[in-house]
Amino acid sequence: MQHAWTGGGLRFSYCTEHDLPDISRMLSKESVCRWLFFGPNTDEGTRSYFLPLIGEMRAAFRAGRMPDHHVFTVRLEDTGDFVGQCALFPVDFSPGSFLIGYQLDDVYWKRGYGTLACTFLVYFAFTLLEGYRLNGDTVAGNTASRRVMERCGFVLEGIQRKYWHAGGEYHDRLIFGLLKSDLAPERLSRLGETFTAA
Ligand SMILES: CC(C)(COP(=O)(O)OP(=O)(O)OC[C@H]1O[C@@H](n2cnc3c(N)ncnc32)[C@H](O)[C@@H]1OP(=O)(O)O)[C@@H](O)C(=O)NCCC(=O)NCCS
Repeated sequence: MQHAWTGGGLRFSYCTEHDLPDISRMLSKESVCRWLFFGPNTDEGTRSYFLPLIGEMRAAFRAGRMPDHHVFTVRLEDTGDFVGQCALFPVDFSPGSFLIGYQLDDVYWKRGYGTLACTFLVYFAFTLLEGYRLNGDTVAGNTASRRVMERCGFVLEGIQRKYWHAGGEYHDRLIFGLLKSDLAPERLSRLGETFTAA
């Protein structure tokens, strides 16, 4: 079972305990959590969220099966410097449907890495997990996250008004979706050329 992939100068590897200090430092930042319904996190809060996920993935690998959760650490391919994390979570009762998530450290914003991370999730879900649908959501004001999904082909499917509380205010939640069948076969095969097992 493969644990790491590279593409576009980034390395995506299944998250382990060794990544937690970097993830914790990122999620303690006001800037990163500005549009999130959680955070800034304490170190303890981040560890208690990620450790059960890491445990589930590790147990699956030991048993020789695919994990239910796919939490990836994103690093620069050449230096190994921490860039962020991205993830695919299963949707209950909908086999092949996944929720996407991504957070990058603020020093790496606006270089195309957010789009690349989301593209990796699309590649992973539709080519390696045999997924048929991806789900994404964001606070209405989070233009960067919205653009990342749009650039990856996601379409706006709905708005839930004043759904989330972040930064002392209520925000609309934008719901995005992407079906595998939305993507032309050529686009899917290009994804396969972008990422390779490391
Ligand atoms: C959302 C996030 C992953 C975007 O990462 P990124 O690497 O900056 O994204 P990209 O460089 O690929 O840029 C994608 C688009 O967002 C735009 N963008 C990036 N940062 C922006 C900002 N602060 N304000 C407005 N637009 C922004 C880019 O211009 C680009 O748009 P374009 O296609 O119109 O040119 C990053 O900002 C982040 O981690 N934010 C904090 C956590 C978060 O909000 N996660 C998403 C939760 S739903």
